Amino acid sequence: MNDKVPMIDVRHISKFFGSVIALSDVSMNVYAGEVMCLLGDNGAGKSTLIKALSGVHKPSEGEYYVEGEAVDFDSPRDALTRGIATVYQDLAMIPLMSIARNFFLGSEPTKGKSIFKRFDTAFADRVAREEMAKMGIDVRDPSQAVGTLSGGERQSVAIARAVYFGAKSLILDEPTAALGVKQAGTVLRYIAQARSRDLAVIFITHNPHHAYAVGDRFTILKRGRTFGTFTREELSREEMVRMMSGADELDALSHELEEFAREDALKDDGGLSDVEQALAQSLEESEEMFSQEEDE
Ligand SMILES: Nc1ncnc2c1ncn2[C@@H]1O[C@H](COP(=O)(O)OP(=O)(O)OP(=O)(O)O)[C@@H](O)[C@H]1O
Ligand SMILES: [Mg+2]
Repeated sequence: MNDKVPMIDVRHISKFFGSVIALSDVSMNVYAGEVMCLLGDNGAGKSTLIKALSGVHKPSEGEYYVEGEAVDFDSPRDALTRGIATVYQDLAMIPLMSIARNFFLGSEPTKGKSIFKRFDTAFADRVAREEMAKMGIDVRDPSQAVGTLSGGERQSVAIARAVYFGAKSLILDEPTAALGVKQAGTVLRYIAQARSRDLAVIFITHNPHHAYAVGDRFTILKRGRTFGTFTREELSREEMVRMMSGADELDALSHELEEFAREDALKDDGGLSDVEQALAQSLEESEEMFSQEEDE
């Protein structure tokens, strides 16, 4: 992996908002075909960092390289032009419009000329269905309103859209935060799909179990500074959980994972057993750890 040039590479990035130091001397990179998880508490600087990556904020200090080339983005459009797509928690989608319409929002395919020009529904429906199928999602009816989809399915439309429009890097700011257990699992699957399609993925989450299920490397932020980047070998799941969540939260987490495993067991679609295995293992270990902690 190290002979390749990173898709996204920031070095010694700082960001000041007046006297607030939101980020201080943070370095991080992500390669095509890997998932980099960005972890840290509330206010750690995760969103600020990805806003710097996606052209929303200009870093106050530091260097930024995309595929080895120094960049200086003035807007999110600049970042998008370099293949960096960002999916926010509050998605820019219109609930009453169809899946296909939302898929092409801002880049509508048309047919006919001048005053006869209109949205090419057949094309949009076909492409939306095909692209979703490539991500392993079966859309029965692309003319169905997005508002009728689950939160996880909506996230997946946003991910499929980014991939279709040529994203090379995908940044996801807490895509699983507001989701139920089963839907979070759905989104984790699409993250793994995006990786297997050779995208560089930056995945922000508060949940160490979600991170461990799909992450290849982990960057941990705390109060605007980085603890560094760790591989799975360097940072055990237990260490990550301890770093990220208090003991009180373990109860909720292990309960959530139990649900996760149960719901997953009900499904039998064969695919992406890595994610499922990682989750199952995560569950077992967290139960063990939790019961040990009760003993103490
Ligand atoms: N536009 C801004 N103006 C002033 N301060 C800001 C601004 N944006 C962020 N900050 C500050 O920078 C720090 C980091 O915020 P940031 O949103 O990056 O945290 P985060 O890690 O994404 O947190 P969360 O997990 O809650 O989303 C916080 O102290 C925040 O108050
Ligand atoms: Mg944030």
